Amino acid sequence: MALTTADQLIIDRTAAFVREKFLHEGSGHDWEHIRRVWQTTRALARQTAQADELVAELGALLHDVADWKFHGGDEDAGPRAARAWLTSQQVAESVIERVETIIREVSFKGLGVATPMSTVEGELVQDADRLDAIGAIGVARAFAYGGHKGRPLHDPAVPPVQHDSFEGYKRNAGPTVNHFYEKLLHLRERLHTPAARRVAEGRQQFMEQFLEQFLSEWEGRDLSN
Ligand code: ADP
Ligand code: NI
Repeated sequence: MALTTADQLIIDRTAAFVREKFLHEGSGHDWEHIRRVWQTTRALARQTAQADELVAELGALLHDVADWKFHGGDEDAGPRAARAWLTSQQVAESVIERVETIIREVSFKGLGVATPMSTVEGELVQDADRLDAIGAIGVARAFAYGGHKGRPLHDPAVPPVQHDSFEGYKRNAGPTVNHFYEKLLHLRERLHTPAARRVAEGRQQFMEQFLEQFLSEWEGRDLSN
């Protein structure tokens, strides 16, 4: 479904609103993250005949608008903030509901917790968000987030945990290297679209190589080569 001029105006206004809000964010959930997710979602939507581009683009722009990670674990903060903004822009109720659903469903909730997306637009936003969590940018974002939360880079005495509940995943405060084993290395196999899966190949290889090198340096293995 192609975008009308009115749709485009709402998208542009939403981009300006989110950009202003997130320009100075320092945990890897900044405007540039959202901009990349938006661009990737747009590219995926153009290859997906049944996707509603307005819903997909608004979902991408608003997916982290009030993330539970920064709102005391409150899962309703995001959908609520998105609804308030979209209502102020006179967006149709049916669109608002579908954007809220995307925000509610998009987040990773632990390795042992299924996170099915109920709409095709949600699948595109989730794929785009997950592509931005892996590869070189994924590595950078993970350590930015860990630093923001005051976490150690790595601690071999703390093993990674397979979280079977969202509550357990939320409470997790392990070292950042564990996050690769608890989430990032598993994202590729959970992508929905063939296009995202293709992009993930190179990013996955890079992350695996990064971890190998990191652990080799950590253990001083490369000193004895
Ligand atoms: P999601 O909604 O799937 O959590 P986000 O866009 O909110 O996706 O971003 C998640 C990113 O936040 C991860 O890719 C990672 O970079 C960072 N992150 C979240 N939890 C941790 C953690 N425990 N350690 C390091 N990075 C984390
Ligand atoms: Ni995100």
